Amino acid sequence: MAPTQDALYADLDLELSWSERDLPERERTRHVHRLHPYLGKFIPQLVEVLLARYFCPGQHVLDPFAGSGTTLVQALESGLDATGVDVAAFNCLLMEVKTRTYNPFVLEQDLRTAHARVGETPQQRPSAYVRRWFAPQAARELLGFRTLVDDYEHADVLRVVLTRAARSARRTTHFDLDFPSKPQREPYWCYKHRRECRPVETAAQFLRRYTLDTLTRLKDFARVRARGRCATVIHGDVRELELGRFDGVLTSPPYPGLIDYHEQHRYAYELLGLDDRRELEVGAAAAGVSRAALTAYCDGIVVALLNARESLPKNAPFVIVVNDRRDLYPEILERAGLQLEERLRRHVNRRTGRRAGEFFEDVLIAR
Ligand SMILES: C[S@@+](CC[C@H](N)C(=O)[O-])C[C@H]1O[C@@H](n2cnc3c(N)ncnc32)[C@H](O)[C@@H]1O
Repeated sequence: MAPTQDALYADLDLELSWSERDLPERERTRHVHRLHPYLGKFIPQLVEVLLARYFCPGQHVLDPFAGSGTTLVQALESGLDATGVDVAAFNCLLMEVKTRTYNPFVLEQDLRTAHARVGETPQQRPSAYVRRWFAPQAARELLGFRTLVDDYEHADVLRVVLTRAARSARRTTHFDLDFPSKPQREPYWCYKHRRECRPVETAAQFLRRYTLDTLTRLKDFARVRARGRCATVIHGDVRELELGRFDGVLTSPPYPGLIDYHEQHRYAYELLGLDDRRELEVGAAAAGVSRAALTAYCDGIVVALLNARESLPKNAPFVIVVNDRRDLYPEILERAGLQLEERLRRHVNRRTGRRAGEFFEDVLIAR
């Protein structure tokens, strides 16, 4: 028998469950949190509450699966230092760009000059990927921007603008931007806009818009981050690294069979020539959810947690946000030598039609 609404909501931690009205999208995506799309991030307000409950300002938090850097950004805002590890090079680039401190004058000048140069299209031979996924004019504009990026001190910021624009300018339908399987070359019926839409032909409009938007977002974040706090980004497999010393862990680990973290930014790897280490992702969707894949996943998370534990004092908090629908975590924590202290449930608010519905996740507090 399906659980009643009341039973579904009975054990919720209300402070961790927000409705769309309590927490509108502009708040969840404030300043640098919307520098670039990333599928699978947690919301900054959740991190904010968890940092306030389990950490103190001045401490140093580790996120061993840091993704787009939500923990790092929020830690800087809440007055903590933070270190984030991720195996995906693009995620590390994004985290670096979000969390660096900038000279505001140089940043403004770099981005405004690059903005004025959008549309310069030096002769370049597009790769097979670029020819397949972008209309000819969009490809010329993106490759032109890629060439000019190297002229600037804040080249990494412009690289993130480039990939964000590339994502919007791909030959995809508007409703399948995350993992499009084949290019969309013809007009199509768009479920999102309820009308006929056409694949994009040009990229210049996105390059211009995102250059200015990025500038605004970086300046907005500079205003609210705590002084003297810093974030460190480490690119690598967290199971293998020597990590340093921290006061606790706050993370949302990958979950088996859900998301391929390199593949969601494939265009970034193709355009920027980034190092692709997808074979090191723990729980990659491509590996499936066979018994062998689940065993490999649990082994991987156990090694990662054991490694993180070595970097923490005794009794330090491990705060883990996960929708553990297969109930893998009690055993994972035990094997990693951690004691589960609390298990909080929160209701996840999903706005968009295709992913709407009742969705809950757990916050596990272990030591
Ligand atoms: C659920 S996401 C984290 C999202 C993050 N909380 C945020 O808000 O953006 C999990 C991350 O773990 C990373 N990851 C997977 N295997 C890894 C490994 N072996 N070492 C380090 N990071 C890994 C993935 O690349 C992905 O970015």
